[in-house]
Amino acid sequence: MENRAAGDDGFADDEFVVNIENVSGKVDYSKLIQRFGSEPIMPGLVERIERLTGRPAHPFLSRGFFFSHRELDKLLDAYEGGRKFYLYTGRGPSTDSMHLGHLIPFIFCKYLQDAFDVPVVIQMTDDEKYLYKQVNLESLRQYTIENVRDIIACGFDVNKTFIFSNLEYIQHLYPNVLRIQKNVTVNQVRAIFGVNDSSNIGKVSFSAIQAAPSFASSFPQVFEGCQNMLCLIPCGIDQDPYFLMTRDVAPRLGSPKPHLIHSKFLPALQGMDKKMSSSVEESAIFLTDSEARIREKVMKYAFSGGQSTISDHRRLGADLNVDISYQYLSFFLEDEKELQRIRAEYSSGKMLTVEVKKILVGLISELVRRHQAARSGISDDLVREFMSVRKLNLSAP
Ligand code: TRP
Repeated sequence: MENRAAGDDGFADDEFVVNIENVSGKVDYSKLIQRFGSEPIMPGLVERIERLTGRPAHPFLSRGFFFSHRELDKLLDAYEGGRKFYLYTGRGPSTDSMHLGHLIPFIFCKYLQDAFDVPVVIQMTDDEKYLYKQVNLESLRQYTIENVRDIIACGFDVNKTFIFSNLEYIQHLYPNVLRIQKNVTVNQVRAIFGVNDSSNIGKVSFSAIQAAPSFASSFPQVFEGCQNMLCLIPCGIDQDPYFLMTRDVAPRLGSPKPHLIHSKFLPALQGMDKKMSSSVEESAIFLTDSEARIREKVMKYAFSGGQSTISDHRRLGADLNVDISYQYLSFFLEDEKELQRIRAEYSSGKMLTVEVKKILVGLISELVRRHQAARSGISDDLVREFMSVRKLNLSAP
């Protein structure tokens, strides 16, 4: 094992928890890197990606939202040596309305797909949500399709992207699922995922199903003729335990370890100590929210790092580290100069919270509006095509 991950009862002395079932408290991301034993993304690595792709890094990367990795440098070495790779990410379709935070890995994946010209596979873990939540399989099938529409709306290339529901694709994954199951013990699963003797047995073995797409051989038709591709997984850092297990088991399967790039969590409107959550309506901007609703939520709930009186604010300025509107702008406002201006004027007290909130409302409303427009143009046929088992176009354009 490279390092232990946070099980259910681990690290009680720290103020925050990050594991596959729970994220809570104000996450200290440098501490998390130490806990998980991953590596921080340094500016040199970002520059190297810019050099290799011949385009500026996505702001999620250059501004540190994707902040940690496992052997991304080695993947780039292999890529430079002519080795191909694919991207693997996924989503647990636990609801039919996704929020802004859910979109981040997909926006980032789409950037990587374009920048490196690589295929993408996206796993919809309807099975996982069935095992972990109170929801029936019929609703999950519906959520999967609705979520897939949101994912496609991020702009993926249908010739290079395969999206699959575990309930439907499981037969193809099964040979690798079995190989993984045979090579991982209950003790390991207990240590990594915090399952215990009263967990349902589906939870004990589910990790093998999330691990399997990390190996190109799980896609015999989709990657026909390209079975030796390496795998890069962009994911929220809470998903790391799955892939720590996968990397551990890979050599026993005679397969290369997947490479990882981890993101932070999008904080809730209420502040940096919570993450955006679909179960708390006011914490999140949903992809179905109207402009009026977005304005209301931002104005009412977005935690302000500004001072409580205008004269104090002019004198002291805002604390940008806790200011949610500024934090969101730093993720979604691509214009670097404009962001710098806001940073300077808001932190010095020249700008007021309400002015920053207005900018945020405009930006997010436009993003959501564009998303909705893209989504409404997606036909049932296109959804079926993305989800059909077929050979992807793996050659360079
Ligand atoms: N378990 C993830 C979730 O609940 C979904 C998922 C499956 C995933 N495979 C993945 C996420 C690979 C990131 C990378 O959302």
